[in-house]
Amino acid sequence: MPSSPKPDLRIGLAGLGTVGIGVVKIIQRHADLIAARTGRRVVITAVSARDRTKTRDADLSGYAWETDPVALARRDDVDVFVEVMGGHEGPARLATEAAIAAGKDVVTANKALLAHHGHSLALAAEAAGRVIRFEAAVAGGIPVIKALTEGLAGNRITRVMGVMNGSCNYILTRMQNEGLSYAEVFAAAQALGYLEADPNLDVGGIDAGHKLSLLAAIAFGTEVSFDAVELEGIGAVSIDDIKLAADMGYRIKLLGVAQMTGRGLEQRMTPCLVPADSPLGQLQGGTNMVVLEGDSVGQIVLRGPGAGEGPTASAVMADVIDLARGLRLPTFGQPATGLTRPVAAKTATPAPYYLRMTLLDKPGALAKIATALGEAGVSIDQMRQYGHEGVNAPVLIVTHKATRDDIDHAVGLFAGTGVLVGAPVVLRIEAV
Ligand code: NAP
Ligand code: HSE
Repeated sequence: MPSSPKPDLRIGLAGLGTVGIGVVKIIQRHADLIAARTGRRVVITAVSARDRTKTRDADLSGYAWETDPVALARRDDVDVFVEVMGGHEGPARLATEAAIAAGKDVVTANKALLAHHGHSLALAAEAAGRVIRFEAAVAGGIPVIKALTEGLAGNRITRVMGVMNGSCNYILTRMQNEGLSYAEVFAAAQALGYLEADPNLDVGGIDAGHKLSLLAAIAFGTEVSFDAVELEGIGAVSIDDIKLAADMGYRIKLLGVAQMTGRGLEQRMTPCLVPADSPLGQLQGGTNMVVLEGDSVGQIVLRGPGAGEGPTASAVMADVIDLARGLRLPTFGQPATGLTRPVAAKTATPAPYYLRMTLLDKPGALAKIATALGEAGVSIDQMRQYGHEGVNAPVLIVTHKATRDDIDHAVGLFAGTGVLVGAPVVLRIEAV
């Protein structure tokens, strides 16, 4: 007897913005391709957004409309709730919880939701025998969640790194390539619609920090701990620093690093100097890059579009297609009940630091700074004064490996020297 065809996989789609419309287009354009690959048809049954009257770039006439995404999540004709609304509270959280309670699987692109509530949502989903998938939430079109949870499942992950916010990389590379100030490029990026409605989510490092915290949970088998991510945005990166870093063979990137150390879990999303000739150093524009390191595989570098309609919808559909195929994995790659609560490392692994400061141009000024560094236990690798600004002297110091605590101690001592003008710029130099 021929086996009966598999039933359709029925999608309830909450959110019809950039990503949601991208999902509609793929499901409509590739209906036969998806059916061939999964052995069943993937169909949208119902959709939800705020404004029903808005003109949208896709034909939605065949789908039922729900004003309330929670009602959409509970519909009997929905198997998979796809959440592409955004926000870590309100409708996204309520509807996701409702979907799980109603026995639906969930696919989401919402890194903020999972960074804040990922552990409790994963526990709830797994207790109900449901799955939550979130490929699109980290690095857009790059299949990094799949790489970590599946491709590298046989490795102990030693480090995860990456440039995961395209807007920040766009700003930093335009500053680098065109010699423009942060303020100029920020304004241009905003005018082009490249920044989130709240631009601090991008330039403050929050969006990228959300993504890093999700990768760290999978990589190290820990509960998501976004609050423990050391966050520093790019707003203080000046064109002077970009040029000086370039003179020394470096680029400045908003770099995320997560690693498990003997002192606990380190998670940082901060502007760092990386070698200009490294893959991360060469990354241009809005592109993302994630570097994964495992004990058996060594280093993997994934590069691609981190945002936009097509790339993000492509990642959402990868999750939907996994569900259509019957591939069901725990949210963070292992049962949520087995994830450990991470101890946050109090200090980052020692690294060389870049210190730029302005000193009063008078005898002994540099010596006082060198003495302060020595007192804090920080050894100088390179030190130079570059030019003069009236009675002031700009000075650049590169240290040997030091802890951030020792650097902060030294910077505290600088204040007592009486030769420092303004605050020093402190940037970590990351070995990548
Ligand atoms: P968007 O263009 O702003 O679209 C959001 C959609 O959600 C809109 O259709 C909006 O309705 C709907 N919505 C918002 N609040 C709602 C509510 N209370 N009830 C019902 N519908 C509501 O956002 P997006 O860029 O598509 O992003 C969606 C999600 O994907 C976010 O979590 C984002 O972080 C994530 N993401 C986006 C990208 C990207 O490149 N855009 C990349 C990776 C991840 P209206 O259209 O009626 O206003
Ligand atoms: N604002 C984000 C970025 C969108 O610039 O990368 C994708 O998460």
